[in-house]
Amino acid sequence: MRSKIVAGNWKMNKNINQTEALLSDLSAKLPDTDAEVMVAPTFVNLLGAVENLEASPIEVIAQNMHFAESGAFTGEVSADMLLAIGINTVIIGHSERRAYFGETDEILAKKVKAALGKNMRVMFCFGEELEDRKSGNHFKVVKSQLKNALFHLDAGAWSQIVLAYEPVWAIGTGETASPEQAQEMHAFIRNTISEAFNSTVANEVSILYGGSVKPANAKEIFSKPDVDGGLIGGASLVADDFIAIINGI
Ligand code: G3P
Repeated sequence: MRSKIVAGNWKMNKNINQTEALLSDLSAKLPDTDAEVMVAPTFVNLLGAVENLEASPIEVIAQNMHFAESGAFTGEVSADMLLAIGINTVIIGHSERRAYFGETDEILAKKVKAALGKNMRVMFCFGEELEDRKSGNHFKVVKSQLKNALFHLDAGAWSQIVLAYEPVWAIGTGETASPEQAQEMHAFIRNTISEAFNSTVANEVSILYGGSVKPANAKEIFSKPDVDGGLIGGASLVADDFIAIINGI
């Protein structure tokens, strides 16, 4: 049975004091849930978050990593550096990394390989631009993103993969994909994986939706059969909103 997951991508938000306050609030309010709950603070706050949540079921994950073991990569962090502070899951391929930092399918494939090579779990992000959807190319774009970064993997590696479909036009815009749009794309993704690998791999992989998930829309989106949870941006920065979204799964 694939996991239900609600993950908060904090992006470049919350200093150390604000991080401690939010984590304490989340820990105090976290409901009993079968879902895995994850938070992704910024790099400088990861170790403190791991220590803060030591007794909590909330997992601390990283927003990114470099594919190199070490070296002259100013500003970057490696898989080993993350593992050494208790981080075992990493977001790779977020649309903001692709747009603002030039992360190509080739670079992302290297990052996926590096993370899996260290037995990390990878939360792989992908999704179409508005013009792709308007032109009817959204399925083609999504399939290409998945194929170029993940379809070279062995079937067994998929046990370490979580997928996060995030239509770029829905990220930070308040323009959430409808539950029907989310389900349509998630079903396409699952079928594409089934064709490329097999039905077991396809049925076991968790596919999260991301893009303006809020307390008001989470439950209906999460109710769809091929939606296994969400990757939450803005709403994860407010404890009561993130808890409300968790209650929606
Ligand atoms: O990674 C999740 C993020 O891209 C979604 O952001 O603010 O639309 O929930 P937001």
